[in-house]
Amino acid sequence: MNNITVIGAGTMGNGIAHVFAQNGYSVILTDISAAALEKGIATISKNLSRLIDKEKIQAIDKTQTLDRITTSTSIEEGVSKADLVVEAATENYELKLSIFKELDEICPEHTILATNTSSISITKIASATKRPGKVIGMHFMNPVPLMKLVEVINGYSTSSATTNSILSLSKKIGKIPTEVNDYPGFVANRILMPMINEAIETLFHGVAGVAEIDTVMKLGMAHPMGPLQLADFIGLDVCLSILEVLYDGFKNPKYAPCPLLVNMVVAGKLGIKSGEGFYDYSTSRKAEKIASQFSR
Ligand SMILES: NC(=O)c1ccc[n+]([C@@H]2O[C@H](COP(=O)([O-])OP(=O)(O)OC[C@H]3O[C@@H](n4cnc5c(N)ncnc54)[C@H](O)[C@@H]3O)[C@@H](O)[C@H]2O)c1
Repeated sequence: MNNITVIGAGTMGNGIAHVFAQNGYSVILTDISAAALEKGIATISKNLSRLIDKEKIQAIDKTQTLDRITTSTSIEEGVSKADLVVEAATENYELKLSIFKELDEICPEHTILATNTSSISITKIASATKRPGKVIGMHFMNPVPLMKLVEVINGYSTSSATTNSILSLSKKIGKIPTEVNDYPGFVANRILMPMINEAIETLFHGVAGVAEIDTVMKLGMAHPMGPLQLADFIGLDVCLSILEVLYDGFKNPKYAPCPLLVNMVVAGKLGIKSGEGFYDYSTSRKAEKIASQFSR
């Protein structure tokens, strides 16, 4: 595999593009929004500078990495030579289905279509295509340049050739892939999201404040970040979508999203990306400070 196309330049997409490019792959980063592409490239540049400061890479590596990434607002233009497409667009079922239907029509026959979805069924996404054997979940963790895990999710029809390609590619970009099967939330979010939701319920019921809940989990459980701060980091809209998939998929009330989470998303308080969530990130320096605490 040489040519990788990443769809969506948001929180995850720019990180995925960064990691592939830093490991020598040619990357086309696409988004429907030119502003998102501009912001995505600026984030990659800033994160590469941070790696230079930490003496993990040299200045020349930054230049070469950025040179390997081109951007486009046209999916069609972006995928014409793709060996692999990694879709990291907004977590929305109808949107993902329509993107995969289009990708199946416009990508070369050999192209593997991977999705970074946090929770949506790979089997359902694959059913929008005529190549379900070449559709797979490639679930990177946030922040992508720092987190080692890739949860590799086999849909019902994913072929073993596709799985093996993705396992081997993940290792080539310095990640540790773990293979799982396609059930709501897979493994990572089936376990993480109920914990985040419970932390929000704990706040909602007035048991403790934001800082107190996060401190208990950080110091008591040795988590690098409290659950409410982690929710801000992931994006509250993303957390809500995942909980809805779990609730819908298992029909079990234990996954029902906390009303406070629903209200915050409706009010546009989405966490770091909107400037406010459980914490206030109204200056970009504050958001950066939080991100750098996590990276340590
Ligand atoms: N945020 C996390 O911590 C996290 C972790 C793992 C996986 N994910 C998953 O990664 C995916 C992306 O999440 P995110 O947090 O980066 O979201 P985000 O909101 O930060 O970015 C989504 C991007 O997709 C773009 N987009 C929307 N429709 C598009 C289309 N039709 N074509 C191209 N681009 C389009 C948007 O303009 C936006 O820039 C989701 O499936 C999410 O569940 C998120």
